[in-house]
Amino acid sequence: MPCDLAMAPDVAKWPRYQLGLEHATARDAEDGLRHFRERFYVRPDRIYLDGNSLGLASRDAEAAVLAALEDWKTFGIDGWLSGERPWFSLAEELGALESELVGAGPDEVVMTGSTTVNLHSLVSTFYRPSGTRTLILADELNFPSDLYALDSQVRLHGHDPAEHLVLARSRDGRTLDENDLIEQMTDRVALVVLPAVLYRSGQLLDLERLTRTARARGITIGFDCAHSVGAVPHRLHDWGVDFAFWCTYKYLNGGPGAVGSLFVHERHFGTRPGLAGWWGHHKARQFDMGLRFEQAPGAGAWQIGTPPVLGAAALYGALRILQEAGIDAIRAKSLDQTGYLMFLVDELLSQAPYGFSIGTPREAARRGGHVAVEHPDAIRIAKALKARGVVPDFRPPNVIRLAPIALYTTYVELWQTVQTLREIVDSGEVERFSAARETVA
Ligand SMILES: Cc1ncc(COP(=O)(O)O)c(C=O)c1O
Repeated sequence: MPCDLAMAPDVAKWPRYQLGLEHATARDAEDGLRHFRERFYVRPDRIYLDGNSLGLASRDAEAAVLAALEDWKTFGIDGWLSGERPWFSLAEELGALESELVGAGPDEVVMTGSTTVNLHSLVSTFYRPSGTRTLILADELNFPSDLYALDSQVRLHGHDPAEHLVLARSRDGRTLDENDLIEQMTDRVALVVLPAVLYRSGQLLDLERLTRTARARGITIGFDCAHSVGAVPHRLHDWGVDFAFWCTYKYLNGGPGAVGSLFVHERHFGTRPGLAGWWGHHKARQFDMGLRFEQAPGAGAWQIGTPPVLGAAALYGALRILQEAGIDAIRAKSLDQTGYLMFLVDELLSQAPYGFSIGTPREAARRGGHVAVEHPDAIRIAKALKARGVVPDFRPPNVIRLAPIALYTTYVELWQTVQTLREIVDSGEVERFSAARETVA
């Protein structure tokens, strides 16, 4: 069930929000998801608002990793088929768990690869330039890794990216206009690859409309869902999206460098994967070691090699929490918290001498799970925040990303974060920090 956006806070008027610690405390008290916080390792001396980059460790993830280690110790090679959770079918099992989050059938999703590797694998399957239809349409606000991958895929086909990789322009440097994207879906376009939620501004694109238009025009369309999975409900199957891919270390809390996942619509089952490997073979006969690739019947065919079992175990634990909470409840709280944060920034940080502004679209239906707070001195302010125990991240040139995570962020923490931002400006302490970027921002 999609989240009822009509019930989501409308940023034009904020009747449900008030200033003050008392209001924040009251909101926490009535929060139906508040008990999930205990399942995570939340440090008492930190306010962690970077779960859109790396979600926090949970006790469930830890227990699942320890159980997988135990299976390794106990079973050795037999762990592939023995134990509570045999490793041989782990990728499919996790895919099925994730499928609820993206609105897909259980066999349309598989856990495998990484975001970038999966993009390569899917584009090498679904980019079939022919005749005058040779262009890939992406956008200039996309995550750089996606553009590097698309660029190299175009080159692999012997085409020049300057001509064949078209980047839709943003009008404001923050967001994309769906009308502009649609205008560029011409009969020269073979493939469209776009983010579901933009990594910097947090804009959520209208996936349904973009997919409907692309398909009506005979164009294949895929989405990078790294910033939407676990924060926003999707209906990838019903919308008819051709393919999607994402990482699991952000809102899914699968751990640093955790394995990615991908979706392939069932109408493409049987299409030969562009980058085949033995883990995409039909499982019943994989160990026959036949020389002919006989692909798995579902999205499992797009696996390449052996899954990293210990890392994947963490995801198994982490996903159970999301499943218990339910993506609609997560989305409802996320929208309420991002709305509350924007309200606080508007009310307390937008005037002089503070000078902060919001770069995220205001409408509930157009925003993902984080808020882009803009400031000319964003880099030093982000460092000052971290020094005071509030963990944001910085994206050049001027964006502090703050992500309230429905499973573990409290309203009081958001109130305190905004108070901290005021204190940082009032005290002039930013002067102590350099404007040089850290290697990992
Ligand atoms: C939107 C988006 N796409 C792609 C990537 C690259 O992911 P990976 O390093 O897992 O391939 C990231 C990483 O943060 C991302 O945020």
